[in-house]
Amino acid sequence: MDSFYITTPIYYVNAKPHLGHAYTTIVADSLSRFHKLMGRESYFLTGTDEHGDKIVKAAEANGQTPQEYTDSISALFRNLWPDLQCEHDDFIRTTEPRHVKVVQEILQKVYDKGDIYFGEYGGHYCYGCERFYTEKELVDGKCPDHLTEPEYISEKNYFFKMGKYQDWLRKHIQDNPDFIRPEQYRNEVMSLLESGALEDLCISRPKSRLTWGIELPFDKDYVTYVWFDALINYISALGFPDGDKYKQYWPVANHMVAKDILKPHAIFWPTMLKAADIEPYQHLNVHGYWLIKDTKMSKSLGNVVEPLKMKDTYGLSAFRYFLLREMSFGQDSSFSEEALVGRLNADLANDLGNLFNRTLSMTHKYFGGVVPRPEDEEIEDVEIKKLGQQAMHTYQDEFTQLRFPRALEGLWELVRGLNKYIDTTAPWTLFKEKDMSRLSTVIYVLLENMRKIAVHLWPVMPEASERMLEQLGIQFDPRKFVLSKEPEVWGLLESGHEVAKTSNLFPRVDLPEPKTPAETAKKEAAKSAKGAKSEKKAEAAFIEFEDFQKLDLRVGTVVSVEPHPDADRLLLVKVDLGEDEPRQVVAGLAEFFKPEDLEGRQVTVVANLKPRKLRKQVSQGMILAVKTEEGMELLTSTGAVPNGSKAS
Ligand code: ME8
Ligand code: MG
Repeated sequence: MDSFYITTPIYYVNAKPHLGHAYTTIVADSLSRFHKLMGRESYFLTGTDEHGDKIVKAAEANGQTPQEYTDSISALFRNLWPDLQCEHDDFIRTTEPRHVKVVQEILQKVYDKGDIYFGEYGGHYCYGCERFYTEKELVDGKCPDHLTEPEYISEKNYFFKMGKYQDWLRKHIQDNPDFIRPEQYRNEVMSLLESGALEDLCISRPKSRLTWGIELPFDKDYVTYVWFDALINYISALGFPDGDKYKQYWPVANHMVAKDILKPHAIFWPTMLKAADIEPYQHLNVHGYWLIKDTKMSKSLGNVVEPLKMKDTYGLSAFRYFLLREMSFGQDSSFSEEALVGRLNADLANDLGNLFNRTLSMTHKYFGGVVPRPEDEEIEDVEIKKLGQQAMHTYQDEFTQLRFPRALEGLWELVRGLNKYIDTTAPWTLFKEKDMSRLSTVIYVLLENMRKIAVHLWPVMPEASERMLEQLGIQFDPRKFVLSKEPEVWGLLESGHEVAKTSNLFPRVDLPEPKTPAETAKKEAAKSAKGAKSEKKAEAAFIEFEDFQKLDLRVGTVVSVEPHPDADRLLLVKVDLGEDEPRQVVAGLAEFFKPEDLEGRQVTVVANLKPRKLRKQVSQGMILAVKTEEGMELLTSTGAVPNGSKAS
C-alpha cells in the first residue's frame, strides 16, 4: 500500500495559536484525509517547539517557569486541533525524552564525523526567528519578518559545516525539480545557493546565557541551538532510527510550512540530514502569508484572527472551505470576514446548499423520499455524467498538486452543472405530465452525483461531507470509498432507501455590522445604563436567521373564493401555488374583500404552516395581509411572478 507522510511546523509556544497556524494545520489535515481516501496509508504529525531564548522570555513575562509555561501553551495547540477536525496521528513536543534522545544521537554522529567544530562568531541575532542574520538579509537594519532590530552577539560556540554540503544540495534540487514547491520558492533557494558560499551554522548556546535547551552530548556547558533541535522532530516522532514508522513514512515525507521558515527547511535541514547520512525528505511545500490589510498576520504584530471564533461564527465547514478555496498555495492572501461571508453565501448556500435542498425536497415530493430506480438515459444525462467525470478528475489532479482553489473550482463546475440540469430537465413538469420513468432517471442522476460531490469534499470539510452523505442515507467510512475510482463508477447509491427531507447545511449569513470604535463605546455605555434585564428582553425580540429560514413563503394566484358555510368573517380561498392542486386557505378576509376582488390576484402564502381546521374547513396555509385604518391590504409582489415562487 502506498504511504504518505505530512508534517506541519512545530509551533513556538510563546503565544496562542492563530489563523496562520490553523491554515497550515488544516491544509495538512485535508491532504492527509485526501490521501487516505485515495487508498493510501497516511501519517500526520504536528507539535510544539519549546526550547530557546524567546520561550524563556515569554515564560518570565508570564511569571512562570519555562516548563509550566510550555505545558500550558502546548496544551492550547493540542486541544485546538480536534475542534478544527484536524486529526493528527501524533503530537510531538521538543521537551519529550523521545525527542531529546534522537537530537543527541544525531549531534554526536555529526560531531564524530568532524562536521561540527568549536569557534568564535559575531552576528545579528533575531530572537523572534531564533537565528543570526547576515547584513545583506536585514532590511533597514531590521529583521524582515519581525521588523525589529536584531542584537549583535559575539561568543564562542559550536558550528555545523553547512557549507560543505552546498554543492550536494544544489545538485539535489536540480535533479529533483519538485523537491521544493511551488517553483518560486525553489528558485529563491537556488539563487541563494548560487549567490555565494553558505556560512557555517551556529548550533549552540553557552549555558551561561541559556539553559532551556538540549545539552550537547560532547560539551555539558552548552545547549543546542533551537533549529538543530526543532527540525529533528520530523524523524524523532517516527522513532528514528529503527522504528517501523520511520521506515514506512520517512521516504515519503512532505513538509508543509509558510515562507517565513523557508531557509531553515530548504537549507539547514537537508544539509543536516546529509551530514547524518539520512536521506532527504521528499517534498517541501511552501505557502504564503495570510495578510490583514496588506500586513502579515502575526503574534508579534498583534493583528491575529482567532480560528475558534471564525468556527463559532460561520461553522467549521465554511471556515475550512474558505481557507482552502481562497488562498492560492504559495501566494499571500488577504483575510477578511467579508470575503468569507461572500464565499459562504455564493458557493455554499447558493450553489451547493440549493442543490441539496432542491433535490431532497423533490425526492420527497415525487417519490416519498425513496431513491428511485433510474431508467433509460437521455443525452442530457450522458452530458452531465461526462461533466462530472471531468470535474472529479480535475479535482483530484489539482488537489494532488496542492492547487486547492483550482481543485474546488473544478468540482463546482459539477455543482453548478447539476443546478442547471434541474432547470433544463424541469422535474416538476415531468411530474405534472406523469412521466415517472423519466423523472426517476433525472432524480437518480442528481442524487448519485450529489453523493460523489459529498465524498470529494470530505478532505476539505469532513463535518459537512458526512452530514451530506447521511442525508443521502449513507453511513460514511473513509476506508470504503476509493476516491480514485469515483469518476468512473456509477450507481453506488442504492435505489429504494430513504433520503432526508431537508438539508439546510449552509444557511446564508449576513456580515457582522461594521463597528467604529465610537459606535462600540456608545453601545457599551447604553448597555451598562440599561442593565442586564432589559438587555435580555431586547435579545428575545430577535429571531435567528435560521428561524426566519424555516418559513416557506410562496406567491400564488387566487383561483376561486367562496364564503365559509359556518362563519361570516371567513372566506375559503383556493390558491394555485404551482402544485398539483390549488390549496385551500381559510382566511379572515370576508369583511374587507368580495370574492371577485380576490379572484385572479396574486397573494403571498405561508406555505409550510401546519394544516388545521377552522370551523370544520381545512386551511393549508395563511395569506399575508396588512391591516390599515381603512381596512385591509394584501401583501404581494410588485410584479407578476410564476405561481409557487419562493419569497426570501
Ligand atoms: O517558526 N500566514 O514556529 P511559529 C500563514 N517553531 N501561515 C502562518 C502565518 C501567516 N500569517 N503565521 C504563522 C516556527 N503561520 C518554528 C518552526 S519547525 C521545525 C519549527 C504558520 O510558531 C506557518 O505555518 O513561528 C508558519 O510557517 C508557522 O506558522 C510559523 O510558526
Ligand atoms: Mg514565527
